[in-house]
Order: sequence, then structure tokens, then C-alpha cells
Amino acid sequence: MPVKNRFADLHADITGWRRHLHQHPELMYDLDLTTAFVHDRLRQMGIDEIATGVGRSGIVAVIRGRQDTSGRVIGLRADMDALPIHEASGVEYASTVPGKMHACGHDGHTAILLGAAQYLADTRNFDGTAVLIFQPAEEGGAGAKAMCNDGLMDRWGIQEVYGLHNMPGLPVGEFAIRPGALLASSDEFEIVVTGRGGHAAAPHEAVDTTLVASQIVVSLQSIVARNIDPVHRVVLTVGTFETDSSASNVIAHRARLQGTVRTLDPENRKLAEARVRRVAEDIASAYGATAEVTWEPGYPVTINSDAETTHAIDAARAVAGQVTVDTPPIMPSEDFAYMLEERPGAYIFLGNGDTAMCHHPAYRFDDDAIPLGCSFFAELIERRMPAT
Ligand code: NI
Repeated sequence: MPVKNRFADLHADITGWRRHLHQHPELMYDLDLTTAFVHDRLRQMGIDEIATGVGRSGIVAVIRGRQDTSGRVIGLRADMDALPIHEASGVEYASTVPGKMHACGHDGHTAILLGAAQYLADTRNFDGTAVLIFQPAEEGGAGAKAMCNDGLMDRWGIQEVYGLHNMPGLPVGEFAIRPGALLASSDEFEIVVTGRGGHAAAPHEAVDTTLVASQIVVSLQSIVARNIDPVHRVVLTVGTFETDSSASNVIAHRARLQGTVRTLDPENRKLAEARVRRVAEDIASAYGATAEVTWEPGYPVTINSDAETTHAIDAARAVAGQVTVDTPPIMPSEDFAYMLEERPGAYIFLGNGDTAMCHHPAYRFDDDAIPLGCSFFAELIERRMPAT
């Protein structure tokens, strides 16, 4: 029996927790109901140490094995926040809050980690310490960074860290992972181009900001096409283009562009930023305008370290039989990347079957994936820190 038998017994309870969380979604750091629920469950499990308010609304739970000769401390992470989406999934336990929905399955991740906590607290069949991390604000609020800035890794002596995310399209019962970059970095930029406004019929007396900004938009694509090694993946998208002219016979004085850059390695991320600045400023200068570039760094690249990826594969294989070990990287981003910047670790995809993609109003989390996720975390702890 690959899935730990204990999780067959706990499945109904954990599903109940998951559906309760699903009915009461909360956003970002404002997780009063969610954290109270997680805290209550953890307290009832007789967990050794529970800390709240880590990174504003994160919770850290410490479970010691029945031995501690290894000195090893392993972190397991789940995210708790929902999205500002109005649910249209049709499930009977749908969100009770209009305009808020667990559309990324973080209710499932939280319930899975609670299930693993129950098992680990009951059995203690390991030599070392498991640190369970329940984080806020994955969806754009960098909750993982807030917890790291609050001393998460050092305060609890975490040496390696693991997380999982459900994956629509991957069958329930399967896992997928890869060493190295798994998810992209996501930065945003704004370019404000200032020329000289004027009469549309007297362009020689103006500096046409619309023309300059257009040249910048076109040339920015040369960064991906001509500066990035063609076997690497980078996306650069200009999403907005607005000028301060609202009339067809007026040359705009100012234009504003906003865009995003996604990369799969830190070097390309740096290169892209440097090139965006240079291209915008120098093109503007060539036309007698100026460009002011603001770079807003977002989540880093999610990079799985080699040894820990192997540990994750071993644990997943023990649960599911086989594991996809070379799944292609994808261009969304994930704030678990901040934890992987501080400690070696790995992030794995858990099959969630045939449903709408994450962040879609019809998305559904499949409760049949729960025992696999729980067993994965439990196997990881017992295999990395075997009791004698
Ligand atoms: Ni998510």
C-alpha cells in the first residue's frame, strides 16, 4: 500500500478541514478565520511548539521525532491565502464569501500539511525535528519573504525546506518535479517617456512621445530575440501603453508603458533589467526625449536544489510508484522561491486531475489528492530522518 494507511483513516477528517477552509476564503495577510482554524487543529494534535504571527500572520509548528540524534531540522511549507475571484465551480461546499475563492487550492495545501502534522504528531517515527510552515499572502503579497524576514529559517534552525502545489492536468496519483528552475521570476517595469507636446500639424516643433515610446516597445522585443541565449526562456510583455493626449490632433507630451519580465535564471533576470533600462533610455535620448525606468522586483526564480530534489523524488516514488522527474519549467511564479533562496529544498507538483486551471472561477481541488500529498510529506520526514 503506497499511500500510508493512516491517511486512509484520516481522509474524511482532512477533507472536512479542506472544505471548511474552502467555504471561508481570506486574502493576503488578513487570515483571521484561517489561522484560528489551523491553530485550533494544531493545538488538538498535541504539537510541541506553535508560534503565531510569524511574517504577520504565518504559523510555525514544531514536531520532534521520538529520537533527536541526527540534529536534522526539515521545513514543510503550505500557503493559506485565497484569491479575489467569484467562485463558479458548482461544488456544494462553495465559498460563502462573494468575490473570494480558494481558486489555487491553497485550502488543499493547508489541509494536507495539517494531515501530515496529525500523522507526525501521532507517530513520531523519525529522528530529528519537523517544522511545519503555514504562510500567508502567496498570491502577490510575498508572505514567504515576510516569514523569512521574520527569521523563520534561523529561529527554528531549518536546514532544508519542501513545498508542493496541486497541478490541474496532471492526473491524481501522480507527481512531477525537476531539478533546477521550475517556475519563473516575475518582475514589473514602468517606463515614463517625456518628449515635447505640440500641434499634430507641426511635428518639427515637438518631440513626439508616442513615436518614441512605440520605438521602445518594438526594441524591447529585441532583448528576448537578440540578447538572451536562444536555448533559454524569457518572456517580456508590454501590457499597457498610455499617453497624455486624448485628441487625434495633439502630440503627446508624456507616455507611460508598463510590462513584465519572466525568466528562469538569475543571470537572465539581471541582463533583462539592464537591457530594458539601456534600450529605453538610449532610444529616448536618440529622439531628443527622456525615459525614466522603474524596475519593481517580484518573486525570484523557483530553483530546486539537486540533492533535495532527489529526496523529494524518493518520497514521491514511495507514495505514487513513479514520478515525472523532468517536467518542463513553467512561467508563472511562486513565492516559495524566497525560501529556496535561503535554504536548499524542493517544490513538487501534485496531480489534481481534470479541472479548470488554477486562478479560474471553475477550478476545483480534488480531495482524492489529499492522501498522496500527506503521505509525501510524511515519507519525506521519515526517509530523511530515519528512526532506529
Ligand atoms: Ni498557488
